[in-house]
This record gives sequence, C-alpha cells and structure tokens, in this order.
Amino acid sequence: MSEMSGKSVCVIGAGVAGLVSTKECLASGFEPTCYEKDNDIGGIWNYKESSSQGDPSLYASCVLNTSKTMTCFSDFSFPEEYPNFPHHSYFKKYLNMYAEHFELRNRIKFKHKILNVSKTNDSETTSEWRVTVQNMASGSTSSLIYDFVIVCNGHFYDPFIPDIKGLDSFEGEYIHSHGYKNFKGFEGKRVLVVGLGNSAGDIASELSRHAEHVFMSTRHGTYTVPRALDNGLPFDMVGIRRLYSYLPEAIKRMVFYRQLNSRINHSNYGIAPNHPFTMRDMIVNDELPTRILVGSLNMKPDITQFKAKSVLFEDGSEERIDKVVFATGYEYSIPFLETSTLTIEQRFPYLYKQIVPPGVGPHTLAVVGLVGTNAPVVPLLEMQARYAVRLFGGHITLPPQEQMKSSCERRKQTLEKMFGREIRFNIFVNYMDYMDDLAADVGCSPKTCWYLATNPRLWWKVLAGPVVPAQYRLEGPGKMPQSLRNNHGR
Ligand SMILES: Cc1cc2nc3c(=O)[nH]c(=O)nc-3n(C[C@H](O)[C@H](O)[C@H](O)COP(=O)(O)OP(=O)(O)OC[C@H]3O[C@@H](n4cnc5c(N)ncnc54)[C@H](O)[C@@H]3O)c2cc1C
Ligand SMILES: NC(=O)c1ccc[n+]([C@@H]2O[C@H](COP(=O)([O-])OP(=O)(O)OC[C@H]3O[C@@H](n4cnc5c(N)ncnc54)[C@H](OP(=O)(O)O)[C@@H]3O)[C@@H](O)[C@H]2O)c1
Repeated sequence: MSEMSGKSVCVIGAGVAGLVSTKECLASGFEPTCYEKDNDIGGIWNYKESSSQGDPSLYASCVLNTSKTMTCFSDFSFPEEYPNFPHHSYFKKYLNMYAEHFELRNRIKFKHKILNVSKTNDSETTSEWRVTVQNMASGSTSSLIYDFVIVCNGHFYDPFIPDIKGLDSFEGEYIHSHGYKNFKGFEGKRVLVVGLGNSAGDIASELSRHAEHVFMSTRHGTYTVPRALDNGLPFDMVGIRRLYSYLPEAIKRMVFYRQLNSRINHSNYGIAPNHPFTMRDMIVNDELPTRILVGSLNMKPDITQFKAKSVLFEDGSEERIDKVVFATGYEYSIPFLETSTLTIEQRFPYLYKQIVPPGVGPHTLAVVGLVGTNAPVVPLLEMQARYAVRLFGGHITLPPQEQMKSSCERRKQTLEKMFGREIRFNIFVNYMDYMDDLAADVGCSPKTCWYLATNPRLWWKVLAGPVVPAQYRLEGPGKMPQSLRNNHGR
C-alpha cells in the first residue's frame, strides 16, 4: 500500500474525466468514491433516445472525430477490430471495458447528485471538504467529509442560443443541437443550421440528405479537415507529431493552412474563415464540401433578423425557413462550487494549469475536464487526472497563490490576443504544449535525448511518429513501456 492509503477522494461525475480520475486515484492508493447523477457511466457517451435538460446529449449518428489510436487512454487501447473512427456506441463499449478492467463500477454511486462542495471551515489551513450528496432515488441528502475532491461534471449540457433579432416572432420551429437526435421531422423542410462547429457540420450534412434544402449560417467560417489525410492516415496521426511542435507557430499555420486549402479552396465554398488561420479554424468533416457541391446545402453569412417565415442574412439575402437548429455551443458552470472556491468569468475559469483553483489553499480540490482543444480530448483528461493525483500525493509543488493567479491572468490575456473577446475559446489549449507541460510536472515526459543514445528506433518513433497517448507511459509513475509496443504508433 502506498502512503496515500486511506485518504478519501470524492470524484464528481462518471464521464471520461470521472472514470480516469477514479482509476488514477486507485492506482495511487487513494480511496475514491465517484458520484454520478445518471444511471450509468460515460457522461456524454451514455446515449439516450431523447435529451434532458442539464445532461449532456449526443445525436444518433455521431462518430468520433478523433481516431481511436490517438483518443485512447495511455494504458488501455481500443480493441483491434474497432474501426479507426468509431461510432459513439463503440466508444461507450470501450468505456465499459475500461471500467471493468480497472474495477471502477464498485466505486461509483449512481443516481447520486452532488449539491454542494465547501470547505469544512473558513480557515486557510483546512484541507477537508464537506460534500452534500442527494440520493436521487430516495430524495434524501447527506453531508460527508472528504480529504480531496476532483470535479468532473463536464461542460456540454447547458445549450447556448444567441439572442437574435426577431427570433420571438419566428413561426417555424427551432431547437438547439443538444436536442437533435436524428433527421426525423426534418424531411421535406427548408432548414437553417446556425453555427459552423463540429455539431453544425455533422447535423447539416445529415439533414441535407433528407430535408428539401439546408442552409448554414456562419459568422467566422472555418477550415474543414477530413478524417483521412494523405495515404488514408487519420488526420490526427499525421498532424500530432513532436517534430512539428518544434516549428515556429507561423510556419506551422502556413503549412497546415496550405494543406487544408489545397484539398478544397475554402473561399469557393463560402466557408473560409474571415481572419488568419489559428487553431480555432477547424472542424472535422468528410461530407460538408460534397453536400455543398451537389447543391443540397448552401452557406450563408451571419443572420441579421428572423421574420415570421423567413430569415434575413448579412449579404441582404432572405430565405424561407421552416425549421432551425442552433448548433451554437454551450454555456457552463459548476453550480455546486462556491465562487469563493472557483471564479468563472464569461466562461473563463481561473484555474492554474486549467486544473487548480489558485485561491483555496491547501490545494486539495482539482477540476478535470474544463478544457478544449482541436485534437483528442480524452488523453488531455487523463493527463489532468494524473496531475491532480500527483498533486494530492504531494509530488507536485505549486507556486505561491499570487503567482498562480498571475499565471491565470497571463493566460486570459494570451487568449484575448488570439481570439479577441470570444468566450467560446476561454478553455482552449494547444494539445502538444499542454500535454508536455503537465507531463513534465507529473514526471512522465518521454526522455527523447536519452533514447537517441540508447534506443534510436524508439527515439525516432517518439520524435517523428504520431504522439500516441502511450508515449506518456514510457517513463515515470504508472510507467508501462510495453503499452507503446503493444497497441500504438503504427
Ligand atoms: C458531440 C460531441 C462529440 C465529441 N467527440 C469527441 C471525439 O471524437 N473525441 C474526443 O476526444 N472528444 C470528443 N468530445 C469531447 C468530450 O466531451 C470529451 O471527450 C469527454 O467525453 C468529456 O468527458 P467529461 O467526463 O469531462 O464530461 P461528460 O461526458 O459531460 O460527463 C460529466 C458527467 O458528470 C455528471 N455530473 C454532472 N454534474 C453532476 C453532479 N452535480 N453530481 C453528480 N454527477 C454529475 C454528468 O451526469 C456526466 O455523467 C465530444 C463532445 C461532444 C459534445
Ligand atoms: N463528431 C464529433 O466527434 C463531434 C461532433 C459534434 C461536436 N463535437 C465536439 O463537441 C463540442 C461542442 O461542439 P459544437 O459544435 O456543439 O459547439 P462549438 O464548438 O462551441 O461551436 C459553436 C458554433 O456556433 C457558432 N456560434 C456561437 N455563437 C454564435 C452566435 N451568437 N451567432 C452565430 N453563430 C454562433 C460558433 O461560431 P463562431 O466561430 O462564429 O463563434 C461555432 O461555429 C466540441 O468540442 C466539438 O469538437 C464533436
């Protein structure tokens, strides 16, 4: 047993973040209890026939937009026979296997909702947390004390619909993508999909096969990346390589921009971003350009006004519309945390390294999952969980509170420089930079220079091959070098 034997951890949520946090706690000798308000694991991947308010939701046809090789946990690969980009039902099965393999289910209390998490008293030295839990079956609540808390409540459950002139007077039907399940009810209709994120791309492409016509409205445009790039390799296996991360940002952008635009000229399709290429300008979609090409789908600029039966756009055009899908993203909050514990301003969470609220010492509470990127999210969540557990175990020393607060302010300013005041990007990180930064603190960075001297084949694989999650199991705590050999990096 490790030195952490007996220390209790409350994990909130049993989605990907909660599962991997529970698993990492167990691996380090903590005693985790995971509370999940739903009746099963998986969070967003726990597909339901209808969506309910306050819960994450998926549409029936959703297929992963990151490859299985790059999206798996670092120590648990997908079954060989799974497709490269699995349907969501396969991802749920994968999570079931993970939970079974690491014996996680007996650590999870389903149908238990966390109502409040607060310090046991106001003292700076108090490190314990009082957690109020509601048993949703009986309605009873209990108050429990934990040594540590990991918050994993997700951030895709509170639909955001913009306030657009005339929407109240629109006589057609409108929904948010959160409530979209499939094309039924859209057959033969004139549909407008608002937004150009991944949800908008998938939904508009699907509807364009069933509706009379589909229009998509975008304010900023985007680049579309197909799942398979040159030689049929998944785009993330091509793009996420350590070697590239050494290139200056301007060169990286130019190379990627050229590559994406050489396949289809985005301007000709009306989807070109109206600003320089940054990490924001990307969705993964194989169909959208073709649906435009065959005339089932038309791009439109931003909306200026809704009328009773039509919509007006910035270019002066007007279209008769029967149904609207707002694929305009999500708001988020952590309702059970007090603002004295964590401040979130306009979707910017003041979290050191996107994990630790700087203001509450000693640091016994972490947030895993409040992060976004243009790459697989699952390995990021795993790395955040490893960071949190190493921190709780006393293996990571944090800088003084003031320094952590300034680091959050600096990040806020950097994001503002990159994205203006667009709050949608307030949790964005650069995948490789962020993974490597956390890995250095966790102690699991691959020792690239050492491999050059001792194992040149491994050195080349780590440097020039896809940065598969198993690269972060070559060294340090939870080391499993065979993981890279077994299942990854092909
Ligand atoms: C449509 C869609 C497709 C995606 N596709 C990909 C992809 O292809 N590849 C990829 O890497 N990522 C993808 N993602 C990102 C995805 O969100 C993450 O990969 C990951 O699943 C997020 O997991 P999570 O645990 O943080 O959140 P969630 O999955 O939202 O889980 C949060 C859990 O916390 C529970 N909970 C919340 N509040 C409480 C409470 N008070 N008490 C108890 N339980 C609570 C919820 O019920 C839920 O089960 C996609 C996201 C969306 C929306
Ligand atoms: N197949 C898959 O794996 C898959 C499918 C769907 C979603 N996802 C993931 O799920 C997450 C959520 O995706 P999402 O597409 O639902 O949301 P999102 O990424 O937040 O995109 C929201 C879209 O709405 C637009 N928008 C926001 N406010 C607007 C306004 N006021 N007026 C007009 N347009 C507005 C944004 O455009 P601007 O650029 O103009 O702000 C953006 O195009 C992402 O992480 C995504 O990668 C994955």
